[in-house]
Amino acid sequence: MADVDVIQVLGGARLAGEVHVVGAKNSALKLMAVALLAPGRSVVGNIPRITDIAIMGEVLRRLGCTVEYSGDEVSIDVPEETGTEADYDLVRRLRASICVLGPLLARRGFVRVAHPGGDAIGSRGLDMHIDGLARMGAEITGEHGFVIASAPRGLRGATIWLDFPSVGATENLLMAAVLARGETVIDNVAREPEIVDICDMLIGMGAHIEGAGTSTLRVQGVTELRPVRHATIGDRIVGGTWAFGAAMTQGDVTVTGVDPAHLEIALDKVITAGGLVETRANAFRVHMDRRPNAVDVVTLPFPGFPTDLLPLAIGLAAVSEGSSLVTENIFDGRFMFVNEMVRLGADIRTDGHHAVVQGRERLSSAPVRATDIRAGAGLAMAALCADGITEISHVHHIDRGYPDFVPNLRALGVKIERVAAPEEPTFTFQ
Ligand code: EPU
Repeated sequence: MADVDVIQVLGGARLAGEVHVVGAKNSALKLMAVALLAPGRSVVGNIPRITDIAIMGEVLRRLGCTVEYSGDEVSIDVPEETGTEADYDLVRRLRASICVLGPLLARRGFVRVAHPGGDAIGSRGLDMHIDGLARMGAEITGEHGFVIASAPRGLRGATIWLDFPSVGATENLLMAAVLARGETVIDNVAREPEIVDICDMLIGMGAHIEGAGTSTLRVQGVTELRPVRHATIGDRIVGGTWAFGAAMTQGDVTVTGVDPAHLEIALDKVITAGGLVETRANAFRVHMDRRPNAVDVVTLPFPGFPTDLLPLAIGLAAVSEGSSLVTENIFDGRFMFVNEMVRLGADIRTDGHHAVVQGRERLSSAPVRATDIRAGAGLAMAALCADGITEISHVHHIDRGYPDFVPNLRALGVKIERVAAPEEPTFTFQ
C-alpha cells in the first residue's frame, strides 16, 4: 500500500517548533556493512526506521547474518563464513548494497555483487571502486550483470589515488584495506562526516586508521577485527532539509540530533538569505522573519554544499527575492526533478549543470511526482509555499530517506495527509 500513497499538503504554511533528527541513512547503511568484517554480534544504534535500512538488513540476511531490530538499534550476528553474493533484486532497490563488495572480498577472498546500474540522479559509475580493489591485488571481471571480484591469496596494501573524492569508493576501499596485508594509503578520499563515522566504528573494532576526515587515509591492515556497538551520527541532510524548509516558509524551527558543524556551508547560505541561525551542541535553530534573499549555491564534496540538499536550494531560490544561480557538480541527472518544481510555478531554467532560478513571491499548487528522495523533500517544502493543496505522488521515494516525514511536518504546524493514491485508469483498444 505504502508504494502507492500520495501526500496532500496545504500550502501557505509556516514551519514552527522543534524536530528531532535520528541517525544518517548514508552512515547507518554502511555501518551495517562494516559489521560484516567481524564474526559475532555487532550492534548499530540510532538507525533511522526507513525502507533502505530494511533492504540492507535483507542483504545481510541473505549473506547468512542474523539481523534483529529493537527500537532504534539493529543487531547483526555475522557467521564465521558469510555468503558471497548480493543479488540484483535487492541491489536494484538499494544501490548502497554495493558497499558489501569491499568487506566480503576482504573476508572471503571472493564476491559477486549485482551491478547497480544508474538511477534517477545520474549514471553513477564504479570505476574507482574497481580500480582501487585491483591495486590491492583483486582480479575483477563483470558478467551477466554482476561485478565478480576474487583475491584468493588475500588483499595486499597499496597506494591508491582517487580521481574524485567518491563517497562510495572511499568506503569500499577503506573496508577492504582494514583486513589487507600491510599498509594502504588512499589519497583524495571523501571527507564526509559519514566517512568519519565509519572510521570510528572500524577503529572500535580494532582497525588501525589515520586521517579520518582528511583527504588521505592511512590504514595498517590487521588479521582480524572484533564486533562492536556503535551509534550512528545524526542525519545532516534531514537536518538541512528542515533548515531550508524553515527559511522557505519564513518559519522558526529548532533541529536536534544533528551536529551543526556537519552543515556549515548550508547554514551559512540560510544566513546569507537573511535567516538567523543559532547553533549549540548537536542542535541548531533557524529563524526567518521575511522573504529570503536570493543566494547562489554550488554543490561540491564535503565540506562543500551537499548535492543532496540541491532540491532544497532550488526550492529556496524559487521563493526568494531576486535570481539565484545553482550549480550541480556531482550527479549528471540531479536536475531531473526541476520540471516538477516548474509545475508548482517555479521559474527555473537549466543549462547543463547550472540552473537559473528567478524567485517568485508565491508558488501555485499542482499534482507533482517525487522523482528521488531529495527531490521529494524539496517538492514538499515548495508545496508549503504554494496556494491551495498540492498532491505529491511516488511518496515511497521520500520514505527511503525521511523517517516520519508526514508526522514531523504535522508537528511543525502543517496540514498534511497521507492517503492511498486513486487507482490509475487503464486504457484499452476496445
Ligand atoms: N563516480 C564515478 N566512479 C566511481 C564512483 C563514483 O564516476 O567509481 C561518480 C558518480 O557517478 C557520481 C560521483 O562520482 O557522479 C559521486 O559519487 P559518490 O561515489 O561520491 O556517491 P555515492 O557513494 O554513490 C553517496 C550517497 C548519495 C550522495 C553522494 C554524494 C549513499 C548511499 N549515497 O552516493 O546520497 O548524494 O554520496 O554525497 O551514501 C541520497 O542519500 O539521496 C544520495 C543520493
